Amino acid sequence: MKQACVKALGINVSRIGFGCASLGSRVGPRKGLAALGRAYDAGVTWYDVAPSYGDGMAESIWGEFASGKRDRVFVCTKVGMRPAPPLIVMRMLKPLSQSVIATVPVLRKHASKVRQAPSKVPLSAELITTSVEESLQRLRTDYIDVLALHRPAVEEAVREDIILALERLVRDGKARAVSIAGDLEAGMRGLDESLPYRLVQVANTPFEPNVDSLRERATPSRTFVTHGTFSCLDQLVAHLNAQQQIASALHDYGYRGNLTEIATAFLADYAFATNPAGITLFSMFQREHLDFNLRRLGNHPTRKQLDPIVAALVEGMRRADPVPSSPLSRN
Ligand SMILES: NC(=O)c1ccc[n+]([C@@H]2O[C@H](COP(=O)([O-])OP(=O)(O)OC[C@H]3O[C@@H](n4cnc5c(N)ncnc54)[C@H](OP(=O)(O)O)[C@@H]3O)[C@@H](O)[C@H]2O)c1
Repeated sequence: MKQACVKALGINVSRIGFGCASLGSRVGPRKGLAALGRAYDAGVTWYDVAPSYGDGMAESIWGEFASGKRDRVFVCTKVGMRPAPPLIVMRMLKPLSQSVIATVPVLRKHASKVRQAPSKVPLSAELITTSVEESLQRLRTDYIDVLALHRPAVEEAVREDIILALERLVRDGKARAVSIAGDLEAGMRGLDESLPYRLVQVANTPFEPNVDSLRERATPSRTFVTHGTFSCLDQLVAHLNAQQQIASALHDYGYRGNLTEIATAFLADYAFATNPAGITLFSMFQREHLDFNLRRLGNHPTRKQLDPIVAALVEGMRRADPVPSSPLSRN
């Protein structure tokens, strides 16, 4: 497994992180534990949870997974979002809906629309302290590797009482480092050297190249954690469908399969190539997704190789122009 050095922690972790947003909601505990174990056996050592994930269940399930191997796994949890209150009827139907969704994956998108979204909680020093104590209990540990503010307002990320609360947690050994997990604006603000954030988590795709924007301002001690790799998959497939010349150019560049397979491989390559020193989070509860993402990590094109095609693709989506036709060597 390729490693990323998290300078704030002084450790190497797997470049692929397991995103646990669906752990306990779409994916029940039994299948979730099996998927976490599979990833661990494949060398995944970085896990991303939050009190709001999995309808409030993700941290507890991760705690069960990590017991007995806490010193060999690393976890980022967060503060600032609370899970949606479960509707009684949804709670009763949950085991049924989890197995139906697992059998009929096309229902997944509809299920996420029906499910209520977690909500933002205004940050305060007291909330941070209480939330961390509760997280530690659920995670069955006495320290969190990284504590992230979960989608903070920019004003919250720089507020003195919040900074002091975070620094206290680090001093007390309850969090080893702190981070911002939010949009680009909050992430940018978090790069300020006077602030304690040493990791920044943002979405990153060819159409939302946030890591490039962050890198322009960051010092090398910062670690970027990205998510949302496949969030534009449908959009990209539709575009490739409408503009066959771009699809055939991707074929020339070495991508094979149907349009969905080509787009999936390209998006994974983009995520790895643009964040070569950081961590890319994936939800990987299905075995084939873990296997695929590991394969792409093992052999993805370099940034230099991908850049011309990304530029042409983005430009092509804007102006319906073709991408360059020269083949790219995939060594
Ligand atoms: N800080 C934030 O505000 C924030 C926001 C969003 C996400 N996150 C973190 O990032 C993690 C990942 O989130 P995400 O938005 O990137 O993804 P996601 O929405 O959690 O999942 C993307 C979907 O892609 C599937 N998938 C994974 N690998 C694939 C592959 N190779 N081919 C086809 N499909 C594949 C997954 O399926 P399976 O899971 O069924 O295998 C999942 O259904 C979250 O779990 C969370 O930890 C953080």
